[in-house]
Amino acid sequence: MGDGRLAAVPVPPWPRATPTAAESSFQMAIQWFPGHMHTTRKAIAERLPDIDVVIELLDARLPGSSANSLLAEMTQGKPALKVLNKQDLADPELTDAWLAHYRAQPGTRAIGLDASVAGPAKALVAECRALVPNRGGMVKPVRVLICGIPNVGKSTLINTLVGKRAAKTGDEPGITKVEQKIVLENGFYLFDTPGMLWPRISIEQSGYNLAASGAIGRNAFDEAEVALELIATLKRRYAERLQQRFSLVELGDDEAVLEAIGVKRGAKIRGGAVQMHKAAEALLGDYRAGLLGRITLETPEEMAEWRRAQAEEEARRAAEREAEKAADKLRRSGRRQASGGDAG
Ligand code: G4P
Repeated sequence: MGDGRLAAVPVPPWPRATPTAAESSFQMAIQWFPGHMHTTRKAIAERLPDIDVVIELLDARLPGSSANSLLAEMTQGKPALKVLNKQDLADPELTDAWLAHYRAQPGTRAIGLDASVAGPAKALVAECRALVPNRGGMVKPVRVLICGIPNVGKSTLINTLVGKRAAKTGDEPGITKVEQKIVLENGFYLFDTPGMLWPRISIEQSGYNLAASGAIGRNAFDEAEVALELIATLKRRYAERLQQRFSLVELGDDEAVLEAIGVKRGAKIRGGAVQMHKAAEALLGDYRAGLLGRITLETPEEMAEWRRAQAEEEARRAAEREAEKAADKLRRSGRRQASGGDAG
């Protein structure tokens, strides 16, 4: 791959982090890169004490799923600016809902951006300054850390802010090797740390949404599976767009819809069967290019519900493990007593 997205191959030489059972649906597909995560964690931890504001770039089409939980843990309590990037591809109503969601959090501001547009990108500086009004000027410069998962548009945004090619975008290998300090204005520094902030996918639906958005390398997941999930999401909120884009008279079950898309896009093989992965490629390609219109894959309420269900599931599994351990202990002590009895 080499484009900075999560990739399936090659298998990294370092040990693979063991996914939790909740990550199971993506367990076969996605390789974690703990080596890179370690570099990132270290770089962020070293820089954080001097940082006044942490900007987290999120994908406006999937703000919750494109957030990084490690970053949340590490930067707790720091003034935060959530930048919902790629808003040109996202549903404006839901972008507003997400902005309101973040703005309700303490010490947090939020803006929507299209990273390639210069004017609004400058609003980012004003938002950061508003978060730390006591800082500014050369003596107390505003020091800002910018973070985001691969492909969220960090390089594009930095280039737009700087007005020249400071960061590489698109197909370049996405690992920044050294920390960059960018002076945006007098007394305003932007730090871009080395390493990559992989999304830690513990919620199944987040994995599907990240894959649909294009944040995950295409070899790392089953396209048909992801396309079926995307169809289910589109049917919930954007059914008409789906029908219009693929000239579908009606929407049957998810598989029937994918099959119909395949028929429309000539993905039939001799004998009449539809190649589902080709149908999936057609749908995912059109979605990512914005050809179905501005679509957001998740709402704050849905994300909260997925997190709640996930936490419940984890608690249930932990209780199960504890019960197993206790039963095991009991069995062992029973055996010891029995053998002690025999000896006596
Ligand atoms: P990164 O540094 O965070 O990894 O991301 P980068 O800036 O390289 O951007 C990844 C892709 O997203 C690029 O597309 C870029 O043009 C696009 N992009 C960034 N910001 C925006 C935005 O606000 N709106 C839209 N619509 N696109 C944005 P690319 O070079 O074509 O790469 P790809 O499409 O092959 O991934």
